[in-house]
Amino acid sequence: MRSRAVLSATLDPEREHAELLALLAAFRDAVAAGRRPAELVPIFEQALDFARLHFRHEEQVMAQAGYPGLAAHRAEHDRLLAEVTERLLRLRAGNAAAPVAACRYLENGLQQHFESADKACYRYLHRSTIRAGH
Ligand SMILES: [Fe+2]
Ligand SMILES: [Fe+2]
Repeated sequence: MRSRAVLSATLDPEREHAELLALLAAFRDAVAAGRRPAELVPIFEQALDFARLHFRHEEQVMAQAGYPGLAAHRAEHDRLLAEVTERLLRLRAGNAAAPVAACRYLENGLQQHFESADKACYRYLHRSTIRAGH
């Protein structure tokens, strides 16, 4: 079992996104290996915990930088977490189709978020860092 990652004080989105994708890959491998729902749940919970930490970390940094898109970005994080939590409940209930559906949702939903909302946010943060002379 992987040890729980600890977030650093400064936001390193590439490292955190890579960690989240690694957790998803572990989940995908476990699904592909035909592991039982009871074994899949802890792996899924770990990915969900890390996603929650990463989202809060991003929101903190956006708030400090005065990012104007913070409210919309936070709403998207909350929507993703609600969807992922819903899938966790289905997994816990032992729904036979839940593991594959959860895996597909996680990969698509998070990848899309990284490529759109996160990219816009990091572009702004990068510019504000340059303006601040760092
Ligand atoms: Fe992110
Ligand atoms: Fe984000």
